[in-house]
Amino acid sequence: MVEFDVLVVGDANPDLLLRGDVRPRFGQAEQLLTAADLVLGGSAAITAAGCARLGLRTALLAAVGDDVFGGLVRAQLSALGVTLLAADGRGAPTGLTVVLSEPDDRGMLTLPGTIAALRPADVTDDLLTLARHVHVASLYLQPGLAAGLAGVFERAHRKNTTTSLDTNWDPAERWESIAAILEHTDVFLPNANELRAIAGLDDTDEAASKLVASGTTVVMKNGAAGARAWWPGGSCDAPGRSVDVVDTTGAGDSFNAGFLTARLAGENMETAIGWAAVAGSLSTRAAGGTAAQATRADILNP
Ligand SMILES: Nc1ncnc2c1ncn2[C@@H]1O[C@H](COP(=O)(O)OP(=O)(O)OP(=O)(O)O)[C@@H](O)[C@H]1O
Ligand SMILES: [Mg+2]
Repeated sequence: MVEFDVLVVGDANPDLLLRGDVRPRFGQAEQLLTAADLVLGGSAAITAAGCARLGLRTALLAAVGDDVFGGLVRAQLSALGVTLLAADGRGAPTGLTVVLSEPDDRGMLTLPGTIAALRPADVTDDLLTLARHVHVASLYLQPGLAAGLAGVFERAHRKNTTTSLDTNWDPAERWESIAAILEHTDVFLPNANELRAIAGLDDTDEAASKLVASGTTVVMKNGAAGARAWWPGGSCDAPGRSVDVVDTTGAGDSFNAGFLTARLAGENMETAIGWAAVAGSLSTRAAGGTAAQATRADILNP
């Protein structure tokens, strides 16, 4: 019955990626950019594209509207080899993120639109049966899905489908507890700041230990410094690969794709976090989340 290696659930929207003099000055000042790219965005969409690029049979469950931005999302996903299972956008416009990108940092302006439309019931048992693994992205942008995600992951486990979660940042910075979800999460993939905020602890080792106690494996992304993982009874590190960084948008999502691909291929944690860190690094070679995503050959042949 299995049809997909991975079912990714979450956000899909265009990213309008601006570079140059991007720190807005108000008072009707006009500032000049050096580049503008309209690309596929959304943590779930970029993760799905990364998985497809690495050879996984990949489906994306996302709410996408019947509008210009929705059309862009559909066309890009199809070109990247991802099967879009479009959920009802409930009349909302397709979301959009404007990314103000600097070499070492970025600011993001997001119209949630359809991003918030997914509901737990959209992730049906039939869908969960079709996939070996389900990955959920951008939890804090999707309060409707978040409210029932523990139940979704519990159902996934009953179907022998493994689970992973990348919450990404909470724009409201409320960091509502995800303890009930983590009980049914095989792998949790935050960045260092998200890990600290979610655990409510400044030290990343202590924060990870607290979450591992609920039974999950924690895989923490740490920008140019690479990544670290903790699981019951062990931990390990991985460096990224040194590259000429153009844009770090979606590096964490490409990292997720590298990690999931390795684990679904039966690789151990050390190898998986190594593939992940390299996949994250390589994705920074071009603007946007998907333009420079790694193939298996890129990862295996330095
Ligand atoms: N400047 C960089 N140089 C080399 N590798 C990088 C750089 N930035 C990120 N990476 C690689 O990408 C991985 C994920 O990056 P990062 O820590 O930025 O994740 P994130 O904050 O979750 O990103 P996202 O914005 O996609 O959510 C890192 O673990 C590392 O392997
Ligand atoms: Mg992230």
